[in-house]
Amino acid sequence: MMFIRSFIFFLGVLATLLLGWAGLVGIPNFMISEVQPPKGLERYTYEQSYGRSIYIREGCLYCHSQQVRPAGFGADQERFWGRPSVPADYVYDKPHLLGTMRTGPDLFNIGARQSSEDWHLLHLYNPRIVSPGSVMPPFPWLFEEKISAAPDDKVIVLPDSITPREKVVVATREGRALTAYLIGMNHTYPVSQVPAHNDTTKKK
Ligand code: HEC
Repeated sequence: MMFIRSFIFFLGVLATLLLGWAGLVGIPNFMISEVQPPKGLERYTYEQSYGRSIYIREGCLYCHSQQVRPAGFGADQERFWGRPSVPADYVYDKPHLLGTMRTGPDLFNIGARQSSEDWHLLHLYNPRIVSPGSVMPPFPWLFEEKISAAPDDKVIVLPDSITPREKVVVATREGRALTAYLIGMNHTYPVSQVPAHNDTTKKK
């Protein structure tokens, strides 16, 4: 008798775990297993995927999401541009960097909103130079100070008050790669999965 009860209990536990697995892993995995990359989505270049690893290392995703929600879930498209994101947008993202917090703006279409390398580098060096009062932390270790710049160095032009004396500030390889990743982040190409009524794309 005792044995049968334990066995039933065990079956119940097993069924509960299996149900959870099916709902959270099995079925979703099956639903997206056939997803093909959209025509407009390009693979990351070496430079961009290196930049992506810096994005992960520096914890940018703790403050920035990478997902545009459909109309009705907030004014994402008006604020961050583009159409609602679809699973196919993420086929090359392993792991995806959806994010859970929006202390800063969503970056899924940042390349469309801001494509200037100079702007991004200044902003990473010290966000308040281009965005007064910003609470985003500076990332000065993505830059180095030099006596003089080499021909292929990317020098950033700082306001006089914070330019180091007799030195130039140049972006490191990491800083440039991160910027290439940000500028390449543009998911505004059309996809068939988004019904027109859900795409309230409006450019500023
Ligand atoms: C503590 C939170 C925080 C972290 C960490 C953070 N940011 Fe930000 N970020 C912000 C806030 C707030 C803003 C809006 C103000 C501004 O433009 O600086 C912002 C703005 C931006 C913008 C401009 C967005 C726009 O729409 O104009 C970019 C690009 C950006 N961040 C990239 C990054 C990158 C890359 C990293 C990691 C190296 C990072 N952020 C880390 C909070 C953060």
